[in-house]
Parts: sequence; C-alpha cells; structure tokens
Amino acid sequence: MLKPATLAALIGISSLALVPAAFADGAAIAKDKCANCHGSDGNSSDPTVPSIAGFPEAAITDAFESYKSDDRKGAKYKPKNGEEDDMNSIAKEISDSDLKAVAKYYAGQTFKRQKQAFDAKLAKKGAKLHDRKCEKCHSEGASSPEDDAPLMAGQWREYLENEFKLLASGERGMPKKMKKKFKKLDSDQLKALIEFYVSEGSE
Ligand code: HEC
Ligand code: HEC
Repeated sequence: MLKPATLAALIGISSLALVPAAFADGAAIAKDKCANCHGSDGNSSDPTVPSIAGFPEAAITDAFESYKSDDRKGAKYKPKNGEEDDMNSIAKEISDSDLKAVAKYYAGQTFKRQKQAFDAKLAKKGAKLHDRKCEKCHSEGASSPEDDAPLMAGQWREYLENEFKLLASGERGMPKKMKKKFKKLDSDQLKALIEFYVSEGSE
C-alpha cells in the first residue's frame, strides 16, 4: 500500500502535469502567431496594421468570427520578419482555446496611442460628431475597454482611413445600428471623425 505522503506526491505531480493542457499560454501564442505583424505587446509599428493592445477580449474574438466566415476580408500583409498572410486564413487556422487565450493576453496589454500630425480645427468638428453619433458604443472617445468594439483613440491614421473607406463603400459590413448613423455622414464628416481619433494620440 502507498504511504499517504507518497500518494500526495503522486497526486501533486499528476495534477501539475494536467495544467499545461488546461491553460493555453496566450503570450506564447501571440509571439508565435501574431507578434510579427501586431507587435508582441499588441502595439503595431506599421501604420497599415492596427494596434490591438488593450482591445476588449470580445472585440478580438468577434473580429475573428467575421474573418473566419469571410464576412470581413483582411488584406494580405508581409511582415519584415515573416511570411505573407491575411487575417482570414489566420482565423481559420487557430483553435477556439488558443484564440481565447491570445485574446485575453492582448486585452491585458496597454494600448499605446500614436502621436501623429492632425488638423486641430477638423478634429474639433469630428469630436462633436463623435459625441452625437458614435460615443454611445465607442465610449470615452473610442478608448474604453468596456465596449465590445475596437479602440480608435490614437490608432494609426492609415489603418483608420482604409477602414473608413471600406465601411463607407459597403465593402465591409458593420452593426445595423452603427450603419444607421454612419451612412448619413458625408465624406467631410468622415474625414473629421478620423481627424478626431488621430488627434486623441496627442492628448
Ligand atoms: C501577416 C500579418 C498578421 C498576422 C500574423 C496577424 N494579423 Fe491581425 N491583422 C493584420 C492586418 C493587416 C489587419 C487589418 C486587416 C483588415 O483590414 O481587416 C489585422 C486585423 C486584426 C484585428 C482587427 C482589428 C480591428 O481594429 O478591427 C484583430 C483583432 C487582429 N488582427 C488580431 C490578430 C491576432 C490575435 C493575431 C494572432 C493570432 C493576428 N491578428 C495575426 C495582420 C496580421
Ligand atoms: C450601436 C453601436 C455603434 C454605434 C452607434 C457606432 N458603432 Fe462603430 N462599431 C460598433 C461595433 C460593435 C464595432 C465592431 C464590430 C464590427 O466591426 O462589425 C464597430 C466598429 C467600428 C469601426 C471599425 C474599427 C476597426 O478598428 O476595425 C469603425 C471605424 C467604427 N466602428 C466607426 C464608428 C463611427 C465613426 C461611428 C459614429 C458615426 C460609429 N462607429 C457608431 C458599434 C457601433
């Protein structure tokens, strides 16, 4: 018969051995599958690639749903130190548990606002528009991790401009309630909104 101490040691060892299987390591997955493009802390150094640090977990997993189903088409991108790829194939390849872990990891990082040149007058006009039409869901000037939406305060201008263009042309879908507000805006108003989000990088 085993002595209680030996038994405890055996149980200890076996439960330790179970740990790695139960917890996917978000930081390791990020390093392996995302960091080449989004940065290891989720702050991208290329203005065409969005920073995703501090994004709400649900905003990350929701984006993966739309990439996986091809509702949202992600551009092909070739990072300096890696293979060309796009978010659609990345979303199709990752397991649910790895996605959950990596989303949690990036949600825990700090979004670094980019300081970029902007037109102050236009940004002011954009701030007013934002408060009236967008703040409800993109709260605190689109910087709150409490929303289930991507952060835009201090996001890269080039990424925002591209994103707005795809949304305005209808090439990229958006939530119904957002569409109601978005489609009424003319191109000057959309420009003002982008200017506002860019200006928040200098706050
Ligand atoms: C080959 C480069 C590349 C890799 C690797 C990559 N991404 Fe992306 N990611 C992009 C690009 C480019 C976009 C913008 C695509 C678009 O326009 O929809 C993007 C968009 C996103 C978005 C949407 C952001 C927003 O503001 O809506 C999320 C979330 C995201 N990626 C998370 C991840 C995670 C998590 C991983 C790792 C599992 C990953 N990405 C791996 C290049 C990459
Ligand atoms: C009813 C809530 C709601 C309103 C109002 C709303 N949005 Fe959104 N928005 C969302 C959600 C949720 C997402 C993420 C899901 C998606 O992209 O389909 C999103 C995504 C976005 C994106 C994509 C960001 C990225 O990084 O991929 C942009 C740009 C955007 N919104 C701009 C706006 C602007 C500008 C307004 C005001 C005119 C606005 N939204 C109003 C809920 C809303």
